[in-house]
Amino acid sequence: MKIVSTVSELRGELRECREKGMTVGLVPTMGALHRGHASLVERSVSENDVTVVSIFVNPTQFNDKNDLKNYPRDLEADCALLGALGNIIAFAPEVEEMYPEPDTRVFSFAPLDTVMEGAFRPGHFNGVAQIVSKLFYAVEPDRAYFGEKDFQQLAIIREMVRQLGLKLKIVGCPIVREEDGLAMSSRNMLLTDEERVRALEISRTLADSVTFAENNTLKATKAFVESRINATEGFRLEYYQIVDGDTLQPVEEWGDSDYIVGCIALFCGKIRLIDNIKYKEVK
Ligand code: PAJ
Repeated sequence: MKIVSTVSELRGELRECREKGMTVGLVPTMGALHRGHASLVERSVSENDVTVVSIFVNPTQFNDKNDLKNYPRDLEADCALLGALGNIIAFAPEVEEMYPEPDTRVFSFAPLDTVMEGAFRPGHFNGVAQIVSKLFYAVEPDRAYFGEKDFQQLAIIREMVRQLGLKLKIVGCPIVREEDGLAMSSRNMLLTDEERVRALEISRTLADSVTFAENNTLKATKAFVESRINATEGFRLEYYQIVDGDTLQPVEEWGDSDYIVGCIALFCGKIRLIDNIKYKEVK
C-alpha cells in the first residue's frame, strides 16, 4: 500500500497506473475505518485494478464545530486496516491541500437536499459535494463507492454526478452492522458503554417496524418507530421519515412507491447517529 498526501503525488501514481491500462476505484472516507468502510474497499478492489481510499475529515461538511473537533482520527490504524485489503493508494491530505483557498461553490440538489439531513444539518451536503467533487476531479475514477448507511448522501452524489456530467459509475453498497445490529459508524466509538447498549434500540426498532408494517399502514408504522424511540431514555429523535428511495420525499401510503425506505437520525446522549431500513424495493 502507498500513502500519499498531495494531489500531485496522487495524480503521478495514477498516471502510471493508467499507462498500464489499469482501472481505478475510489472510496472516499473520513477515516476511523471500520468493517463498513472495509466492505466498500473490498468491493472496489474486486472490481478495479487499483483503489484509492481517501482519508480526510472534511471541515466544510461539519455544521457543528464540536463534532468536527471530536471526530475520531487514527491514520496509523486506518493504514494497518487498508494494508491487508489489496492494491491500495491511501490519500490522506491536510486541509490546506484540499482547500488552498476557500471553496465558494454552492450546489443545489433540491428537493433531495432540503429534507432530513439537509434540513437538520444546514450546509452539510454542500460541503460533501465540495469535497467529493474535488476528489472526483483529482482521481478521475472509473467507479466510486458509497455506503447505503448514508442513504441521502448516496442519492445526492448520484445527482451531483448527473449535474456535473461526470463519466464515473457510482456504486452503492449495503449497510454493514455490528453483530448485535447496530449500524457501524466511526461515531460509535464515542458512545459510553451505557449509550452503546442503548443505541441497539435503533436497529431493533427499525427491524421490528418491518414486521409491524406487514399489517399496518405507513402512518402507523412511522408512529410505531417514533413512539419506541421517544420512549427510550437518553434518546432525542431528530426525525424519522419514510420516503421514496429515489426522490427522498415522504410517502403517505405503502402503495405510493415501489421503493420505500425509513431514515432515522437521533442523538444518543451527545452523539448523533443515523440509520435506515428498506420496507420495499422492487428491482
Ligand atoms: P464516512 O462517514 O467516513 O463514510 C465513508 C463511506 O463509508 C460512506 O460512503 C459511508 O456511507 C460508508 N459507510 C460508513 N459506515 C458504513 C456502514 N456501516 N456500512 C456501509 N457503508 C458505510 O461519508 C463520509 O465519510 C463523508 O461524507 C465523505 C463521503 C467521505 C465526504 O467527506
